[in-house]
Amino acid sequence: MEWGMANRMAQLIQSDGRCLFLPVDHGYFQGPTRNLEEPRKTLEPLLSYADAIFITRGVVRSSLDADRAKPIILRVSGGTSMVGKDLANEGITTSIEEVVRLNAAAMGLSIFVGTEYEHESLLNLSKLVDEGERYGIPVMAVTAVGKELGKRDARYLALSCRIAAELGARVVKTYWCEEGFEKVVQGCPVPVVMAGGPQVETELEVFEFVHDGIQKGAIGVNLGRNIWQNDHPVAMIRAIRAVVHENATPKQAQELYDSVKNSGR
Ligand code: 5RP
Repeated sequence: MEWGMANRMAQLIQSDGRCLFLPVDHGYFQGPTRNLEEPRKTLEPLLSYADAIFITRGVVRSSLDADRAKPIILRVSGGTSMVGKDLANEGITTSIEEVVRLNAAAMGLSIFVGTEYEHESLLNLSKLVDEGERYGIPVMAVTAVGKELGKRDARYLALSCRIAAELGARVVKTYWCEEGFEKVVQGCPVPVVMAGGPQVETELEVFEFVHDGIQKGAIGVNLGRNIWQNDHPVAMIRAIRAVVHENATPKQAQELYDSVKNSGR
């Protein structure tokens, strides 16, 4: 691996082989998502606990200080909205020059396997990988499901992840699933990180799925709403960090969450 690519990968994946990415990119198609209305305010207390931030260029410039930022994974796909025709109809929204200018550690782009725009999104990924490899910038592929959250079964996720890796993604972000998640990871020859999806009922459910996914081979998380939509986001990110980087059990994570929450931090 070239030095630049190796250096960027090391900014993303920590020396223990694990990672905690904090995504705040949701506004690129959802608008001012709950608790992310003012990204600077959302980010401020959480930044020091994240290994990298998944973010668009507009929010980098407006809401992240260059002298105290974490490595950034720049969201470079978009062009659709919640109220538009089809979320899958994304294009590449950011040039490689802009990615270099912003000193991004990686680029992130969604693919939409099984949709009308499967072909376009896969060619977008291939094109981005060609550009990224030229400049030593890794691509994280996001296996997106649009509004069809029901698609998150192992067979579908394994298919999407494998295709993303075959087309050259250096990291693949996908959803955890209860049955067969180990097959998703085994079938993907590059590191897999887990997204959270919409906020779930209890904190413990999050700790349990993150823990289970790590046991089954995922290297970490790219988890947003279940952190910053929680009533105690700092407690949440610290507890998830313990699961990812310190092999905490879900019970230990819950105890840490409760103690940070009760300390009022
Ligand atoms: C949204 C994304 C997010 O980065 C991804 O879905 C992770 O966030 P969450 O845990 O909230 O699902 O790709 O565009």
